[in-house]
Amino acid sequence: MAEVEVILPHERYKILIEPGVLENLGARVRECAPAEKCALFTDSTVGRHYGALAKKSLQASAYQVEYLEFAGGEQSKSLESVRVFYDALLDAKLERTSPVIALGGGVVGDTAGFAAATYLRGVPLIQCPTSLLAMVDASVGGKVGVNVPQGKNLIGSFHQPKLVLLDPRVLRTLDLRELRCGFAECVKHGILGDSALFEWTESSVDALLALEEPAIIELLSRNTAFKARIVAADEKEKGMRALLNLGHTFGHAIEKTSAYAIPHGEAVSLGIAAAAYVSVESGRAEKEVLTRSLKLLERFGLPVTAALAPGAELFHAMKLDKKIRSGTIRLVLPLGIGRAEIADDIPDPLILEAFESIRS
Ligand code: GLY
Repeated sequence: MAEVEVILPHERYKILIEPGVLENLGARVRECAPAEKCALFTDSTVGRHYGALAKKSLQASAYQVEYLEFAGGEQSKSLESVRVFYDALLDAKLERTSPVIALGGGVVGDTAGFAAATYLRGVPLIQCPTSLLAMVDASVGGKVGVNVPQGKNLIGSFHQPKLVLLDPRVLRTLDLRELRCGFAECVKHGILGDSALFEWTESSVDALLALEEPAIIELLSRNTAFKARIVAADEKEKGMRALLNLGHTFGHAIEKTSAYAIPHGEAVSLGIAAAAYVSVESGRAEKEVLTRSLKLLERFGLPVTAALAPGAELFHAMKLDKKIRSGTIRLVLPLGIGRAEIADDIPDPLILEAFESIRS
């Protein structure tokens, strides 16, 4: 078992990395959120594998469980789903102390998390991520929210979990494409702020793809510890937390214009490739940053080129997203392996060129 702590100015919580921890879910939840009732939210795929196990464990720890499954996929990360969650919580008469347990990937964590942040002005949230991507990124740091037609994650809140439980064994039932998407976020962490992590990842690709337990536990520990450090330094994204958006400004435009046919992790992989291209072309970084990043992404089976929407459409999606947020296109650009900066002065033609550089 490994343990990482997220230490914030007003609260702290643990990330427990423990093979088989889902079987002890009830006991773990009771330690940090004792109550009579709880809500367990999942999607239909995760529910089929682990719903009954999780529910049984919660019941064995004397919780009355309100269990709700919804359809998975980015399209479900919506205000309509949150409305269904509210109804379930209200019908089951959950109280302010009743925990909401989010069992699933990032869509479940973000959507159930947003319901937990707003129901009765906030109830305890336990994140039980089941995808690698959610384990190393979305479940840590308290960002919760949903998409709207205008863009991704435009409605949301910060609501830190009381506990994050990572069971490396659940990755064995994860679809390979989804597993690869998680590795994209790990590569991102190394590039933007931890060269030792990047090098360790380069030397561990085979063990990681084979899901060797010691390697996976180390991956989870290193990446959650990295994220915990950033969140501790900048909980509300007023500064360095924005560096975690490496690959995301390009990536969100790619996801949106593909109508989410390109999943988040693949879009981030493509976005990292585009950002590294801009870094090199604008003289910020040596070419090695681009070549090493592409090589590592490709070794994980991630795309670094793809069939994309027309450049003007991609650019429009990027502008619209950023217009709603801040008015300018801000890109996170690598300066070397383990260093990045935020730039808001990249000329439009270079952004378009970067999109072309990743077009297959
Ligand atoms: N996923 C980026 C962040 O948590 O800030």
